[in-house]
Amino acid sequence: MANKNIDVYTLIKPEINKLKKIGIESASLDCRLLLSDTLIKNTKLFNHQNINISENEIKIFKNLIKERLAGKPISRILKKKNFWKKEFKINEETLDPRPDSETLIETVLEFYKDKLQSLKILDLGSGSGCLGLSLLEEYKNSEAYFFDTSKKSLDVVKSNATDFGLYKRSRFVHADWKCEEWDITLKKNYKTKFDIIISNPPYIPTDEIDKLQKEVKKFDPFVALNGGKDGLDAYRFIIPKLKNIMKKNGKVFFEIGQGQENLIASKGINYGLLPIGYRKDLSGVNRVLVFNIK
Ligand SMILES: C[S@@+](CC[C@H](N)C(=O)[O-])C[C@H]1O[C@@H](n2cnc3c(N)ncnc32)[C@H](O)[C@@H]1O
Repeated sequence: MANKNIDVYTLIKPEINKLKKIGIESASLDCRLLLSDTLIKNTKLFNHQNINISENEIKIFKNLIKERLAGKPISRILKKKNFWKKEFKINEETLDPRPDSETLIETVLEFYKDKLQSLKILDLGSGSGCLGLSLLEEYKNSEAYFFDTSKKSLDVVKSNATDFGLYKRSRFVHADWKCEEWDITLKKNYKTKFDIIISNPPYIPTDEIDKLQKEVKKFDPFVALNGGKDGLDAYRFIIPKLKNIMKKNGKVFFEIGQGQENLIASKGINYGLLPIGYRKDLSGVNRVLVFNIK
């Protein structure tokens, strides 16, 4: 089949209009990203650039547009998302990394200024690995342990770690913090204690999941969102064990939901953790809570 030589804008204009009609504000950018993915991966496209495209590629592009019209986020269609300094692969069992979670990385950098120190980091509920791998990229002498109940998400972390040259400093722990002795097993298997624990656990109250945007409730995995009745289930399982697996003076950096800071802080205090700071996200919501291990 012959290739067409066509101006990008002529090709995507009807598709932009379809996306705009259903309220997608980023319609033009989305179309260029999907077209770029169809043609040559990772090539930026400009509206008034001429391209060579086959009938088959046009068909593939239009199918991607259909997915977008059905409400699928661009990151889910392309199976990748930018976070901190890297492009992370994602899959159906990983949360789509959020810009607000970069607050957690900024907070760790603020508390640990010496980037050459050798830190043991535990990423509890690692998803795509966006948090732990971003820290490994910053702290070149450190090691990270990625802990998740989803085996498929750990496969993505392995693949991202390989792409970024961080595999050798990564360990993968397929485990569940609902298991009574997860802390003891971790200590026994890896014979280590941690300087830093980071965690963005599921913290949305179950009843609120249905009220979230369609892009979130339909395409982010339920297990990555569901925090139980009041959103705090994961913190209830995690917090009591932390002192046992952390070095003295170690620090815990939790991502938290809006308005959860006081309840989580007092839970920490009950188990020997000292709340030492909150950090706000891009919308001014307290998003990160830091504990020190006494
Ligand atoms: C909100 S997502 C965070 C993912 C990633 N850290 C991020 O910030 O994008 C929560 C993660 O916790 C994992 N998770 C949920 N329940 C778990 C459990 N009981 N034990 C271990 N991991 C769990 C989910 O599979 C998911 O990857």
